[in-house]
Amino acid sequence: MAIIAYKCPDCEVTVVDINPERIDAWNSNELPVYEPGLDKIIKKTRGKNLFFARDIEKQIKENDIIFVSVNTPTKTFGTGAGMAADLQYWEKTARQILENSQSSKIVIEKSTLPVKTALAMEKILNLAKGKIRFDVLSNPEFLAEGTAIEDLENPDRVLIGSHETRSGLKARQELVDIYSRWVPSEKIITSNIWSAELSKLVANAFLAQRVSSINSISALCEKTDADISEVAKAVGMDSRVGSKFLQAGIGFGGSCFKKDILNLVYLCSYYGLKEVADYWESVVKINEYQQDRFMANILGSMFNTLAGKKICILGFAFKANTGDTRESPAIYITRKLLAEHAEIIISDPKALKNAAFDLVGVKGSVKYVEDPYSAAAGCHALAILTDWDLYRKLDFRKIYKSMVKPAFLFDGRNIIDHKKCFALGFNVYPIGKPALSHFQPENNS
Ligand SMILES: NC(=O)c1ccc[n+]([C@@H]2O[C@H](COP(=O)([O-])OP(=O)(O)OC[C@H]3O[C@@H](n4cnc5c(N)ncnc54)[C@H](O)[C@@H]3O)[C@@H](O)[C@H]2O)c1
Repeated sequence: MAIIAYKCPDCEVTVVDINPERIDAWNSNELPVYEPGLDKIIKKTRGKNLFFARDIEKQIKENDIIFVSVNTPTKTFGTGAGMAADLQYWEKTARQILENSQSSKIVIEKSTLPVKTALAMEKILNLAKGKIRFDVLSNPEFLAEGTAIEDLENPDRVLIGSHETRSGLKARQELVDIYSRWVPSEKIITSNIWSAELSKLVANAFLAQRVSSINSISALCEKTDADISEVAKAVGMDSRVGSKFLQAGIGFGGSCFKKDILNLVYLCSYYGLKEVADYWESVVKINEYQQDRFMANILGSMFNTLAGKKICILGFAFKANTGDTRESPAIYITRKLLAEHAEIIISDPKALKNAAFDLVGVKGSVKYVEDPYSAAAGCHALAILTDWDLYRKLDFRKIYKSMVKPAFLFDGRNIIDHKKCFALGFNVYPIGKPALSHFQPENNS
């Protein structure tokens, strides 16, 4: 919404939320999310044509176009628990729009939703009396956290789905006109509403599938002395495959991938497509397997006991350039380490507040230290869990000196120079590459 306000100075954009503290935070100097470049855009637009307001009913009344971007988490209860999307927030919004509208509106699905959700939205909105009419469009969001501003300013594509009726096409054109202010026309694609809804789920499933594919091969590399980076490079140079998203690591996190794949799995099962459901569910299973493997590797390499040992977690965010920790592999791995009675020191440049929130009530010793050097001092092991650029540039000589020996380094993102760290004295355990251990004479040459 900030980008729309920025690119369309003649449009007035108001953001509302049922959580008043979130609105207050958006109106303050400390924005509730960290996203590179967002603060600058907010500074340029807030109070001019971008507003954050608490009065949801009034804003529904006064605006012509409503983007519904509410959360759609995985259902935790009843039919479809653990798989299907929980649409309660979505449906509440539909009812709220119906109750408070005094004029016709375009309602846009921005949240990621199961295919055919627009139908439910329309059924509720069609209860409207008199001359009020609602046109529902699907405009899924493809931005990635960490590069959101860049992705929104130069999107690979903008997808707008609508009914192919006269009023559906008219509503679609209104939204096309907004994006056309800054997105080249060949990148604005239109489709029927169900294709748009499904495309978003499939896009995320394909991205996550690539991560699980390369991670599954990383397990094989570790058994065969092949190197996953070399394999990924050779495979990715085939233009039919492409080189992006082929970085092995401890797996994907974030609020979307797992939720959207499980949602896709649920849809396939619902329509009786068991084999298709099983295929996509395996993407999530490999992701969990990769995190278990990483944990088993830490335990096995450190002589099968972590009790009382200090382990420094470098990075808690689910990926670099965000403070978001939702579904971060770091949560699972930290819990597993604590279950082994390790003492944990967590360092992250942007995610410590969220990390503390994620670990509320957890048993064991956890400290939060922003400076990576202070965090690592006195530790037995380092575990790199987020691909923050700053970890590539750390002075590992200085860190090694401050640690308990033998010092272990588990690079869950394959981002540092393993040979250099091994030469400094570390026992180094990358993903999908032979370990560089001073305990194994055959690796010392
Ligand atoms: N985070 C991403 O990178 C991303 C990318 C693409 C798509 N999406 C999709 O966008 C949707 C939102 O994701 P998010 O990460 O922003 O979630 P979020 O939980 O951070 O934000 C959702 C917000 O909606 C508010 N809300 C809930 N019900 C409401 C209601 N009835 N009226 C007003 N506000 C209400 C919540 O208070 C919350 O602040 C999801 O469907 C997600 O799959 C997210």
